[in-house]
Amino acid sequence: MSRQVVVVGSLNADHVVDVQSLPLPGDTVLGRRRSETIFGGKGANQAAAAASFGGPTAGVSMVGHVGDDEIGREMTGALAALGVDVTGVGVVEGPSGRATIVLDPDGQNLILVEAGANALLTPRDVETQQVAEAVAVLVQMETPPETVAAALRRASGVRVLNPAPAAGAMSVLGLADVVVPNRTELAILADASAARTHEEAVAQVRSLGLAAAVVVTLGADGALVVEHGADPVLVPASPVDVVDTTGAGDCFCGVLSLELARGRSLRNACGAAVRAASLSVTGAGARGRLPVPSDFASFPSRDREAPC
Ligand code: ATP
Ligand code: RIB
Repeated sequence: MSRQVVVVGSLNADHVVDVQSLPLPGDTVLGRRRSETIFGGKGANQAAAAASFGGPTAGVSMVGHVGDDEIGREMTGALAALGVDVTGVGVVEGPSGRATIVLDPDGQNLILVEAGANALLTPRDVETQQVAEAVAVLVQMETPPETVAAALRRASGVRVLNPAPAAGAMSVLGLADVVVPNRTELAILADASAARTHEEAVAQVRSLGLAAAVVVTLGADGALVVEHGADPVLVPASPVDVVDTTGAGDCFCGVLSLELARGRSLRNACGAAVRAASLSVTGAGARGRLPVPSDFASFPSRDREAPC
């Protein structure tokens, strides 16, 4: 299989707790129900989205670690069932990564992650031919920063960094070709408060002084594309009935990386990523609605890009 996209990152078992309103510091809130365990992890969600959108010949591979437990085997099997090459998913002693996701009725969330096996992914695990030869390598920050750095250094294709969570991402920002933060992550990286306007977001991007192109995901507003030598552009999202926004950014990053690996321009790739991610929030769970290209036939595009 040709290795179009290699995702280096986390696999987590997600426990979702529905609440009436998200807790504030010091709060105790009662869950309305506790769901069964579902598959998550930013890396695995991104690989799943890319493989689903790209179909069986997409050439998506996952590099990561699970624990020596049942859920680890299930998570790996679920990716394989989507056509993801999981030969780079190792099994290590101890528990798999876990996340507790607190979800309110508007589909907004808070996420707590226990890294488990993800914390044991080392630079050696990613200094492979698989990573070196990928057309695009996609990383996030749920594995150790030195491992993320090693993967980006090893890559010769397009290097896409989703700096999530943003703490610790500063040291690797300069190694990527495309950086994809959401509004909150951008504010953390820029040491500012969350941008209230698109102009403020562009100013925060510029303040980072990166050589990379930056795509800021803006939830219902879509995504802002800031490239050198071009005016910033907003790729708007279409209105949808939101069920759960968990994993929207992951869907975005997976589809974006696949489209870049296929040779699309950053702006065109963002168009597909915005549409796929907007559809993804209409399903429950981090992979509640994985994108397939035929979805687009019935989903209106708001491809009216707007300068900022
Ligand atoms: P996550 O909840 O996984 O942390 P995120 O904060 O990383 O998501 P967002 O910026 O919220 O990512 O959203 C990513 C993309 O998902 C957006 O660019 C958009 O395409 C889509 N999206 C998210 N929320 C909505 C919404 N309410 N309506 C339409 N599209 C949405
Ligand atoms: O982005 C959503 C993901 O973040 C969840 O699946 C959870 O596992 C955490 O990694």
